Formats: sequence, C-alpha cells, structure tokens
Amino acid sequence: MATEVQISERGTEFAADDHQMLIGGDWVNAASGKTFETYDPATGENLGTVPQGSSEDIDRAVRTARAAFESGPWATMKPSERGRIMHKIGDLVLDNGEELATLETLDNGKPYAVALAADVPLTADLFHYMSGWCTKNGGSTISPNVPYMPDAEWHAYTLHEPVGVVGQIIPWNFPLLMAAWKLGPALACGCTVVMKPAEQTPLSCLRLGEIMLEAGLPEGVVNIVTGFGEEAGAPLAAHDDVDKIAFTGSTEVGKIILQAAAGNLKKVSLELGGKSPNIVYADSELETAIPGAANAIFFNHGQCCAAGSRLFVQEKIYDDVVAGVADHAKNIKVGPGSNADTEMGPLVSQEQLDRVTGFLESGETEGAETVAGGKRHGDRGYFVEPTVLAGTNPKMKVEAEEIFGPVVTVKPFKDVDELTSAANASAYGLAAGIWTNNLSLAHRTAKRIKAGTVWVNCYNVFDASLPFGGYKQSGWGREMGAEALELYTEVKSVVTQI
Ligand code: NAI
Ligand code: MG
Repeated sequence: MATEVQISERGTEFAADDHQMLIGGDWVNAASGKTFETYDPATGENLGTVPQGSSEDIDRAVRTARAAFESGPWATMKPSERGRIMHKIGDLVLDNGEELATLETLDNGKPYAVALAADVPLTADLFHYMSGWCTKNGGSTISPNVPYMPDAEWHAYTLHEPVGVVGQIIPWNFPLLMAAWKLGPALACGCTVVMKPAEQTPLSCLRLGEIMLEAGLPEGVVNIVTGFGEEAGAPLAAHDDVDKIAFTGSTEVGKIILQAAAGNLKKVSLELGGKSPNIVYADSELETAIPGAANAIFFNHGQCCAAGSRLFVQEKIYDDVVAGVADHAKNIKVGPGSNADTEMGPLVSQEQLDRVTGFLESGETEGAETVAGGKRHGDRGYFVEPTVLAGTNPKMKVEAEEIFGPVVTVKPFKDVDELTSAANASAYGLAAGIWTNNLSLAHRTAKRIKAGTVWVNCYNVFDASLPFGGYKQSGWGREMGAEALELYTEVKSVVTQI
C-alpha cells in the first residue's frame, strides 16, 4: 500500500475554505455573488468554492490597479524598496513552502514531492531574481547625428518606464510558478496587475495574494479575479484601460486574446502551445538519454508547454531507445499526488482526460502502434497511462497536434538534414532537446532548430535567468531573464538641444 506523505494541514484547511478574491487590499465576493467549485483531480471531489468573477469584477479590479499605478505608494516608491518587497515575497514563499506545495497537489494533482522540490523553490527564486532587476532597468545615453542640423549639439537619453496596468491570464499546469513568471517582471518594472488564475487551479494564486500583502506590497498593486475564461478572462483582455495583456495557455485562446486586444491596441505577449522535438543521436549515452527522453515527456504528466512530445531517434539505436523509453513508461508509478511513492499524478480535469484519451483513440484509428500505455488508468480521478506511440506520420493528429498529456511519438531518422526538416515541420517552436556526445553536432543542430529553448543532454531545465518563449505559433515575447523586462517596459527617448 502506498503511504500518505505529510501534506500540510494548513494547506488542506486553506483549500477547504470558502474563498474570496483580492481587489485592492480587500478579500471580496464576486459582484454577482456567484461561486464555483474547484476539484481534486485525483478523486473528482470538491475541494472548496471560489468566486465566479465576471466583467463587473474585472472592471473594479482594473480601476483599482489604475489608481494604484497613477498615485499612492507604488507610484512613488524607490526601486530598491520595490526590490525589498519582492525579495520578501520570495522569502515568504519558501517559509510557506509546504502549504503552497499542498495546494498544488490538491488542486492540480502533481506529486507533493515534486511541488515541494520544483514549483515552490522555482517560484521563490523567480521573485528573488526579479527583485534585483528593480534597481537595474535603466535606459541609456545616446549621441544623435541628426544630419539635417549639422551644427547642433545634443544631449539624449532613454527612460525605461512601466507599461502601466497589466492583465495577466495564466493556466493550470504550474499554477503558482506561472503566477510568479508573470508577476515578477511586471512588479520589477513598476506595473500594477489584474491576474486571472485558471478556473481549474485558483487556490495557490489566492494564497500567494495573502503572502504578497504580508510582504508589504501596497494595496491594489496586484488584484486577483477568479473565474472562467470567457466570463472573466475575455473582459480583461478586451478592457480599454488595460495597457498590456500577458497570456499563457492554448494557441486557440491566444489568437482570441490577440483579437480582444485590438480594441485599444494594448501590448500583447503570448506563451502558447508546443510540439517539441527531442533528438537522440546514435553516439549519445543511452543510460542518460533514455530516462532523459522519458522525463522530457512524462514530467508533470505531459502537461508542459515544452514537453518533448516528438522523439526522434537515429536509426542505429532506434530499437534500443524505443524499448528503453517504453520500459520506463511501464514502470512509472501512477497515483494520487499525496502518496509518497507516486511518480505521476492525474491530469488536471475531466476535460483534459477526455481530450487526451480522445487523442489516444484517434491514434489507434489512424494506425499508430502503441508500444506502452494507451489507456485511461483506473476508473476514479483523471489518470492516464504513460504512453509511447510508434509508426506515426505528420498527418496523424497524435503527431501534428499538442496532446498535453503523457503521450510521446517516436520516429527514426538517418542524418542531420532529414532530422532538421522533420523536427522543424511543426506550427510550433517552443523547445527542443538534443542528446549527443559530439559537441559540434550538438551546436550545429541547436542552430538549425526553430525553437526558443534548446536543451543539450538535459531537458526541462528552467531558471529565472533563462529567457523562455516561442518561435512561430508558440508565442510572442520571452518570459524570465532580462528579456522579460521588455514586456513590461515603455522606452521613452528624451532629446535636448544644448
Ligand atoms: P485555455 O487556453 O482555454 O486556458 C488558459 C487560460 O485562459 C485560463 O485561465 C482560462 O480561463 C483562460 N481563457 C480561456 N478562454 C479565454 C478567453 N476566451 N479569453 C480570455 N481568457 C480565456 O486552455 P485549457 O482549455 O485549459 O487547455 C486546453 C489546451 O490548451 C491544453 O490541452 C493544452 O494543449 C493547451 N494549454 C497550454 C498551456 C501552456 O502552458 N502553453 C497551458 C494550458 C493549456
Ligand atoms: Mg479552454
């Protein structure tokens, strides 16, 4: 029998509350008084209730964020003071790590040990890292030429100013970490925020709201409106007094966000889907490449935008790698995230279970060969077997579309030329993995792959200092690293004739 790990009692208690959302310094109900339930995906049972925000609540939150941006302590605060508050947020995330990890396990389904070892420290580190940028997002001095005024002298510089009131819409696969990726750079630049967490996973974001206030973030700087995409997300994306919208989620909704943003031409950044190639060359070390390829797809149950979902293996070692990854898949312990020995939890929702099993059925109908898994796991909760499919082609849905579940397709390739054209034959360009001991082959391949991140002899390595984002339909802009500041900065040129 699996033993229960000690998920935190405070986390379980917090989850079970009747929740309110954060507008200004107040915890409030939705204007309509409506609520919805959030579920534990391991059981399908109700965890707690959350306000069902809509356009009226978004409007109120935007007005509050506007007031906090234009006047009050945030508008006049020195960058170093902003940095100290952000650093404190990171500290408090660590102090409350067990509670936050528990909320991730209960609401999202991921193993508690993973949430505690990855989601929580990465979230804290993001705030710590971004806190340092508060004092460093400066402009530059420039020497203009102005050829039609040959005798004039100039003094010119750029100012980096916050873009203003920002709307941020985030998904459910890393609820806490996605909130941090978005909030960190926005706050470092001096923006104010209205955030809408995913309806499947609102809990850790609400707890983070409490933590931010405790750290000394002034009221109204971050507002959190819970609710559904069309009811609460859409009016935020369309709002005329929002200066910028940042979105992570499906490519389909990304395109809707873009249209909604057209009304006032607010700035847009998008972090969308992927179908990332993971490439194993014949000279790679199979004892690291095989588990590496398995973890590239099965980490977070395949619910990663960067998941290595198209595995390409050089012909000579194809059979060994397919057998190795399939073996790995069959040995993964699937179960509730609160069990100590669980390696893979449930998918997040009934909708995602239906979506992923629908892909598995279409693979079978279209003639894919199932080497491991292929079905739902059990009959309670939203579990799916880790699945390896061979014999696919780019016309099949399982090879062409993002599945967002623990499903990988594997294909053989001959040489670099064949590989790069196959790897790049996707509407997406988020990430890629390369496994080889040949340095020049690794870097030659890295140059040719159209993707925002390339991992060599590793996969799913994320860090606050590494910019992340997509080519092609995987999105616009880069999150994390110094590049993330560009998303939240307006550049002003000031020119003086002296
Ligand atoms: P989604 O794109 O519908 O949801 C993401 C966020 O957008 C949520 O907060 C949702 O409430 C909001 N949203 C939905 N419709 C909206 C609208 N019309 N206007 C404004 N906001 C809206 O993604 P969903 O339905 O949860 O998952 C569907 C698929 O999307 C997944 O199977 C996966 O392929 C992809 N996905 C990709 C993610 C990524 O990290 N890039 C994360 C989550 C999903
Ligand atoms: Mg959706």
